[in-house]
Amino acid sequence: MILFLSFQQCAAWFVVLALIYLGLCLASPLRKVPGPWYTGFTVLILRWHELRANRTRYVHSLHAKYGPVVRLGPAEVSFTSYEAIKEIYCSRGSGYDKSEFYDLFRVFGRRTMFSTLYKEEHAKRKRVFADRYANSNIMKPASLGGIQERSRRFIQCCEASGTGSHDIFMSLHAYACDCATYHLFDPYGTNCLQDEADMEMMSQITGDDSLQNRLIQHYSPTLHRMLSGIVDLFAEPRATPLADNFAMAAARGPEPSPFTLLSRMQEKSAAGSHLDQLDMAAEVMDHMVAGIDTTGDGLCFLMWELSQPRSFSFQEELQRELRAQCVADDAHTGFDNLPFLDAVVQEGLRCFPPIPMSLPRRVPADGRTIDGYDIPGSTVVSCQPFSVHRVHDVFPDPDTFNPERWCEAEGDAERKRVMFAFSNGGRGCVGKHLALVEMKTLLRDVYSRYTTLPCDTMTAESMAMDDHLISSRPLGKKCLLRFIPLSEKHE
Ligand code: HEM
Repeated sequence: MILFLSFQQCAAWFVVLALIYLGLCLASPLRKVPGPWYTGFTVLILRWHELRANRTRYVHSLHAKYGPVVRLGPAEVSFTSYEAIKEIYCSRGSGYDKSEFYDLFRVFGRRTMFSTLYKEEHAKRKRVFADRYANSNIMKPASLGGIQERSRRFIQCCEASGTGSHDIFMSLHAYACDCATYHLFDPYGTNCLQDEADMEMMSQITGDDSLQNRLIQHYSPTLHRMLSGIVDLFAEPRATPLADNFAMAAARGPEPSPFTLLSRMQEKSAAGSHLDQLDMAAEVMDHMVAGIDTTGDGLCFLMWELSQPRSFSFQEELQRELRAQCVADDAHTGFDNLPFLDAVVQEGLRCFPPIPMSLPRRVPADGRTIDGYDIPGSTVVSCQPFSVHRVHDVFPDPDTFNPERWCEAEGDAERKRVMFAFSNGGRGCVGKHLALVEMKTLLRDVYSRYTTLPCDTMTAESMAMDDHLISSRPLGKKCLLRFIPLSEKHE
């Protein structure tokens, strides 16, 4: 009887709570935001797509159906307009604070420049690092020379593949790791392109498949704690011990080269800054990870696309430009005379942004109006590069790879304004200049020597975009291309 009564009471409470929840959802100021009806009541559908590594495409499909402003959940909204980017990411310099999603990116239990949520803490960190990532520092002979040397090593891998195919997925990630770690802590950087042990360390980062495990841990920490043994059976936990040890050791390295991030951190630490040894290790680890998959995947998707028959005319145009400038000459260091190379890189980053998905932020407590909608304080708002780059008015025929669109004077300012691959404002990518120089150096060296073709065993499906935690990589984690020397082609 007691059981029966308490069951009735439970049911009654459940109904009352459900009615209150429904009432709150129906009264939410976000009810006017377009989107599927269920997003007003639950975020579970979004979470389901996240767990299936399909968030980017799902959010994009909602934008395609509902327009530039879409509700993703009871307290989450996505935008694609430039006005929204400006408000969310640039207002008062750094835009709104980051959401708790970035808790996922703590390293060794510490928050880094990337994972700090609040602008004051972020500004303090950024003051330490910014000058090492400035274009003037990247373009110094010592820094640039290191990138050129690693690009030559990549070319040696292409040469070694002879008439066969070469997996550029792995070697581009190796190149990105070697360049990033050179810039971060030379002489303690990696040589993945030539050294198997370094390659193994890098592969732990690139091959990481812990998306589901980490999402469960983030959204349901109690469940994850209680069932971690079982969750680990079905969803791989993150394990990068080689990379962790490498970053810890590198952060202690004495007398790093003056252009490196490590030299700057050690300088600041000696001068009594807030950075202790673990903070430094966490930062270098974070920047290393940030620099590997982004540049590696971006180059991989781009070279795959340039190798397709539909893009041959662009590959040829690029080769013509490089030959005309005789840039295979290593003494040439600038990219100013290579507008088509720039167009190819821009179009690659537009079509295949290495971080394609939402960059979530929290609306300040007193609420804001974004794109004409009143958004209450604490709502999670975001723009995702994949969708921002596919706005028809700015990029007609947006799914087609067409570098020539960047060569037209008309609409140039508008196109540049909405390029969001590196995000925007004070929390945009600090490694942007380094990444662009790495990409251009490698493309210049490859396409002034080779024509690239896809290997027959490759399929479009294996190159489909597969969401990672924040970046996106080819589903098959492999990209086989053939390198045909240009001299052979012209004979
Ligand atoms: C094509 C290559 C790259 C792309 C597309 C890219 C993109 C981005 C984006 C979109 C963000 C902002 C993320 C957010 O708000 O959640 C970001 C931040 C960041 N990136 Fe990159 N990135 C690239 C290469 C690099 C490289 C080479 C490094 C360093 C070696 C780097 C280091 C960082 C760091 C440290 C942050 C955090 C900045 C801050 O919070 O102030 N990135 N990147």
